[in-house]
Amino acid sequence: MTDPAIAVAPRSADELLRLRRAHLNPTLSVAYREPLKIVRGEGVWLYDENGQGYLDLVNNVCHVGHCHPRVVRAGAEQMARLNTNTRYLHDNLVEYALRLTATLPAPLSVVFLTNSGTEANDLALRLARAHTRARGVIVVDHAYHGHSPSMVELSPYKFNGCGGEGQADHVAVVPMPDAWRGEIRDAADAGPRYGAMLESAIGELHARGHRPAAFYCESLLGCGGQIILPDGYLREAYARVRAAGGLCLADEVQVGFGRVGDALWAFERQGVVPDLLTLGKPIGNGHPLGAVVTTPEVAASFVTGMEYFNTFGGNPVSCAIGLAVLEVIRDEGLQDNAARVGAFLLDGLREIQSRHPGIGQVRGRGLFIGAEFVTDPETRAPDSARVRAVVEAMKARHVLLSTDGPDDNVLKIKPPVVFSRANAQEFLEKLDAALGEIPLA
Ligand SMILES: Cc1ncc(COP(=O)(O)O)c(C=O)c1O
Repeated sequence: MTDPAIAVAPRSADELLRLRRAHLNPTLSVAYREPLKIVRGEGVWLYDENGQGYLDLVNNVCHVGHCHPRVVRAGAEQMARLNTNTRYLHDNLVEYALRLTATLPAPLSVVFLTNSGTEANDLALRLARAHTRARGVIVVDHAYHGHSPSMVELSPYKFNGCGGEGQADHVAVVPMPDAWRGEIRDAADAGPRYGAMLESAIGELHARGHRPAAFYCESLLGCGGQIILPDGYLREAYARVRAAGGLCLADEVQVGFGRVGDALWAFERQGVVPDLLTLGKPIGNGHPLGAVVTTPEVAASFVTGMEYFNTFGGNPVSCAIGLAVLEVIRDEGLQDNAARVGAFLLDGLREIQSRHPGIGQVRGRGLFIGAEFVTDPETRAPDSARVRAVVEAMKARHVLLSTDGPDDNVLKIKPPVVFSRANAQEFLEKLDAALGEIPLA
């Protein structure tokens, strides 16, 4: 290795924790009872300070693999040449908009680049309000759309969670379209029936003096617990929102860029085209980047005389990185890999489910998978204690996982999409052993 550009003396994990508590945002959390100090990443592996490798099944940001050499080179070369802002013409910016929109159905053809998913969702709200001249927003229960004040207001996961201040007047919440645990379950027409619930949310907004500007919905629910939208949900929901004059937003901050395997964009299988698509996390493989893609009509409504300038958004370095990510997904066939390895993982998890009581449902699309733990398969009562114990037991076996869902009882699986069949096999064997160690109480 060449001389490092910066010299940072390594500190012990205990000292880092103590200094974080004293000098950093006191609400920062750390994963695991005994936190990990991770110092290096490569592909699907993270390495701690002692060089121990951990198989990463939870990082959907480093989408094409940690520190992918092509992405790193694209960023480093552009950083060494130039980094400015959108007030100068630059090929990278226009090329990125062209390549991104080439993957999307018409009329999604206008791109706004931001620095995060929150910023993308925030800007999308401004676009929706400018276009509809309305203020109301409908969101799905337990959703998370970002950390800014306006996005906390649109995130039941936050405003109804610890420290939350409750639902704002301009917000209406629809139930999660959970066809396994929700109020409409095990029904072939769950999608349209959940979609029809948008009607009462629209009515609620009207009763409070608001018209809907937008319906925000993830194309698969992340914080909701790795929920796959039932067929027909978005078609029904979008029809109702549009009839009431609102726009429809697909938040693909977690699930875009081929993770679902059978499509590049997760909304595609629902047979809809959103008016606003928001992107983040995987878009820059860890580099801060986000985007809103919308229609020329919606974009035109934003032209009011006020400039939208974003100092870092759309800079040549970010665009170079975004371009490299798109190229790696295409050249390495990663969407297809997500489909193949995802199917193998789902089969393996279902086989494990058949031998270990307490896994109520295994669900997923591509490499976005959830296994829902229950204490009793009949009542489907959530078992968060066991899934948390499994996460710790897997960490001891050097496999990184996490949990999600309103009851925090869903094992979430969303590895970088370079995850191989051999990686999947290793995970399944270790999960089988861990479950054997932590039997159903
Ligand atoms: C669905 C969804 N939308 C938006 C965000 C916010 O993105 P960011 O953390 O990049 O601001 C997140 C982050 O977890 C997310 O999961």
